[in-house]
Amino acid sequence: MNVPSHYQSGFTNEFATEAIEGTLPVGQNSPQRVAHGLYAEQLSGTAFTAPRHANRRSWLYRIRPAAVHEPFRPLAHATFHNRFDEAPATPNQLRWDPLPLPDVPTDFIDGLTTLAGNGGPAEQAGVGIHLYAANRSMQGRFFYDADGELLIVPQQGRLRLATELGVIEIEPQEIAVIPRGVRFRVDVIDGEARGYVCENFGALLRLPELGPIGSNCLANTRDFLTPCAAYEDVDGAFELVAKFQGALWSAKIDHSPLDVVAWHGNYAPYKYDLRRFNTIGSISYDHPDPSIFTVLTSPSDTAGTANVDFAIFPPRWLVAQHTFRPPWFHRNVASEFMGLIAGVYDAKAEGFVPGGASLHNCMSGHGPDAATFEKASNADLSKADVIGGTMAFMFETRKVIRPTAQALASPQLQGDYYTCWQGIAKHFDGGNKP
Ligand SMILES: [Fe+2]
Repeated sequence: MNVPSHYQSGFTNEFATEAIEGTLPVGQNSPQRVAHGLYAEQLSGTAFTAPRHANRRSWLYRIRPAAVHEPFRPLAHATFHNRFDEAPATPNQLRWDPLPLPDVPTDFIDGLTTLAGNGGPAEQAGVGIHLYAANRSMQGRFFYDADGELLIVPQQGRLRLATELGVIEIEPQEIAVIPRGVRFRVDVIDGEARGYVCENFGALLRLPELGPIGSNCLANTRDFLTPCAAYEDVDGAFELVAKFQGALWSAKIDHSPLDVVAWHGNYAPYKYDLRRFNTIGSISYDHPDPSIFTVLTSPSDTAGTANVDFAIFPPRWLVAQHTFRPPWFHRNVASEFMGLIAGVYDAKAEGFVPGGASLHNCMSGHGPDAATFEKASNADLSKADVIGGTMAFMFETRKVIRPTAQALASPQLQGDYYTCWQGIAKHFDGGNKP
């Protein structure tokens, strides 16, 4: 397999990586003296006593410990927060146009806008759903999120995520996950960048079980890439921004916190190319449930009921016979936030554009619009429908997704979204009663 040079392949493996050869201690984690005058520090992403299969931690060997910074003070941010109770949750179907790109210098943190969410960091369950739109790299500042891991879904522009554990570069149709607590800086590679962020307050994202599918398919383990160790030995007047219990905090720090020379463990950032997803579908009739498109899942305390599932709708062939091929009409106990990375989503003829978003909450009816219904109901099923050039995704949650006040007041909210179903005709023939 072709693994780019500064990555390691596998999902939450027990990785071991060093930017300077001979740094990692042999046979122990915390020797009296670490090679090259470094400090040893453990970063735990699960409880110390979490079951072995779910236990995640890494040992970091760094120039200075993470404790070295000045006190945090509150940092105001107008649009990035976890206040999901500002407005009544609505059963209405909602859809938004893309967030405009900024017209003043805006980095990744400045450019975060919270659209919706549920639960929160205090209860360690639920998600925050944010959009980002940025036009410059983070300059002299670093960020970590103590409230949740960050699933970053670019829609436009590449990002370089310089993290404590190494450097990840992603482009649209790739995703990255930055674990809770890991410090990082976001560089905007192409001048402008826009996308989505799922802030997961619950159990760490993992690969779904495959059941009767077997040992392959969906997202394959080897396609997940974790960076090799890379460090910055830079002193200066910098800012460390923390997100802690829904609010931002800022501390002065006199060095780059991306100073980890070597690390080993299974708690680390990773990237995945959504185009590698091995999509499963029906080859006879009807559809499997969309859980078949799950890339990553954060389980809840109830078996089979996710805190959040990250699912995608990638290019695929639809071949089912005597079947309505697009996603069907449905209502769901779960709540569904969708975004579009590229192309056209096959259940909507128009209005859902790349960078946009939709929200269909618990038991809110939704499905194909009138134009899509009429077309698919009369389609020639002797041929396959080739769905190409598209990538939609869904954050599907157990709890109702509550839009923020700013999302409901946003000029991007489409007031006429409901009309896409108003043209659905009544075809009932009365049962051919005489
Ligand atoms: Fe749905």
